[in-house]
Amino acid sequence: MTYIQEMKARAEALKKQEHVRILALETSCDETAAAVVENGRKILSNAVYSQIDLHALYGGVVPEIASRAHVEKVSQIVEAALKEADVSMDGIDALAVTCGPGLVGALLIGVSYMKGLAFACRKPLVPVHHIEGHICANYLTFPELEPPFLCLAVSGGHSHLFAVEDYGVYRLIGCTQDDAAGEAFDKAARVLDLPYPGGPRLDRLADEGNDTALRLPHSHTDGKYDFSFSGLKTAFLNAVNQQRMSGEMMPPADLASSFRKAVCDQLTDKTLLALKDTGYRKLALAGGVSANRRLRAQLQEACGQRGIAFYCPRLDLCGDNGAMIGSAAYYRLMRGQIADLTLNAMPNYSLI
Ligand code: KG4
Ligand code: ZN
Repeated sequence: MTYIQEMKARAEALKKQEHVRILALETSCDETAAAVVENGRKILSNAVYSQIDLHALYGGVVPEIASRAHVEKVSQIVEAALKEADVSMDGIDALAVTCGPGLVGALLIGVSYMKGLAFACRKPLVPVHHIEGHICANYLTFPELEPPFLCLAVSGGHSHLFAVEDYGVYRLIGCTQDDAAGEAFDKAARVLDLPYPGGPRLDRLADEGNDTALRLPHSHTDGKYDFSFSGLKTAFLNAVNQQRMSGEMMPPADLASSFRKAVCDQLTDKTLLALKDTGYRKLALAGGVSANRRLRAQLQEACGQRGIAFYCPRLDLCGDNGAMIGSAAYYRLMRGQIADLTLNAMPNYSLI
């Protein structure tokens, strides 16, 4: 029996096992994160090392520094996840790792580490798509949630509307034509001289401001359910620069609040349109931007008014973490999706 035949046989046997525990690793950007998850729904541990302090000095993620930090921390974080879950490697049934999309060097650390561990322990290795992980963070928060549903996935690199037709079956409904929502928040935060990471800081500042202080343009997109944030970002940058030059700056909280409203309104309007046209009765929010207070509240209210069930991840599961990868991996494993040792980092890996 070859190595991959042996792994496939093990994965097949796991389909009939009552409790399946997966050790999952996430290193696609600036978080080194590992977790142990049971049956895709129950978090036994979730250890995260955030590199924020290392990158703050440079105002954004420096890929080279991220890779080095992952190398330094990965063993410690995996050990911490096992310890917190109170299991040894013998109690782990399969391994999982984010193989894309993300920073190639950062992904490579996780993929190489998990391939080595899988080979040494002779356990099946499940490759996971980062955004699929974000979507599955909802399964960890809501045990009753099952497909089909519509999902708005918004992070530093994605602004996508997916129809989640079944576990692992996605249909693209719309996506951004230029910047991702998280990227737009980060850039606007930089214009306001807020330190990295800008998105959450702009969100907090916006709570204290007047959201009608600055008028921003509506974005036009070719696709009915597509997004565009680059025109908004340029209009914001120009308005702030003009105000600076004239010496009559609006309070930063008003500027932040107006920008946040423009982004959230666009995300909400397109999502509601897609819900109406597709007929889905459930909406899930996913990705780092799902932590945004206004976006959560606005979608919650709009869904409530229309009798649509709204789901968004627990705040500690909105950002990058290992548990969401462990959840996505369980459903991939149940469909027999495992990797052989040729698995590589896929920085442009597409979900559909
Ligand atoms: O999912 P994530 O942690 O990493 C990626 O997969 O990209 O998302 C990070 C993005 C960053 O752009 C960050 O500024 C944004 O999510 N973000 C927020 C908030 N929290 C994180 N944007 C707006 N409001 C927030 N509260
Ligand atoms: Zn992410």
